Amino acid sequence: MALDPAVRERLRESGRAVWSAGHWDEVANYIDKVGTPLLDAIGIEPGMRLLDVGAGSGGNIAIPAALRGASVVASDLVANHFEDGKRRAADAGVAASIEWVEADASDLPFADETFDRVTSTFGHMFAPDQEATARELARVLKPGGKIGIACWTPEGVIGGMFKLQSSYMPPPPPGVPPPVLWGSVERVTELFEPYGLDLSFEKKMNVFEHESLEDYNANFKTNFGPMVMARKMLGDKFDEMSAKVDELFSAANEAGEGALRVQGEYLQTIATKPG
Ligand SMILES: C[S@@+](CC[C@H](N)C(=O)[O-])C[C@H]1O[C@@H](n2cnc3c(N)ncnc32)[C@H](O)[C@@H]1O
Repeated sequence: MALDPAVRERLRESGRAVWSAGHWDEVANYIDKVGTPLLDAIGIEPGMRLLDVGAGSGGNIAIPAALRGASVVASDLVANHFEDGKRRAADAGVAASIEWVEADASDLPFADETFDRVTSTFGHMFAPDQEATARELARVLKPGGKIGIACWTPEGVIGGMFKLQSSYMPPPPPGVPPPVLWGSVERVTELFEPYGLDLSFEKKMNVFEHESLEDYNANFKTNFGPMVMARKMLGDKFDEMSAKVDELFSAANEAGEGALRVQGEYLQTIATKPG
């Protein structure tokens, strides 16, 4: 269902506020093993043009893709992340191969058929208009090109965490589905259906590993934008929600002696545009 433009603009502003809160780069390393298998699956050749959507500070895709020789555009709704991204890119020696562009995944400022590869690791999923986002990812892809995206599954631990958290927050406007539906094979098939893409799916695990559950929590709850925003909005109720998140993680914890080892299931989708 297409969103009313005024609602879309309001949600874009609140999305900016959520993801500007905290400090994404401090938690980015918890999911930084997702980019390599995704890049392997879509294949990168030197000189390819790659767009990373919702790139954050670029550690998962933008920088590794540039290291493989791609010419990268790293886009994100929140330009605040780019300072960390530029520092990381300079440290990796690929600053000249990455252009940083502020952009909403559901309204990309690029011409049709610009990129050989379009990627997103847990970024595009947060754009509220899922149909428009699918259209944009497909539109900017060249014929013969590939989209590679990763999203938490609704039934995995992280999907459960988002569900729990959103149950405490004001409900979204009608027509805004949960972001984790990008982790459902049925929903992704439906979203890309109008564009004639060939789809393949693989469920994978991101392992969250930390020496201490308390340290992990302290960092996550201070720096992860949606958590920081929840703390701001929920007042006294935040502690109740936070305790339930801890219960969820504890129930899934495979490590002993206060450490953390939790497997977060995600769906990796590869979509190929006929050449
Ligand atoms: C969980 S982080 C993932 C960042 C990065 N892809 C990574 O793997 O490290 C989600 C990212 O999506 C971005 N984002 C949220 N809503 C967006 C939208 N509508 N369009 C583009 N990016 C968006 C956030 O600013 C944030 O950088």
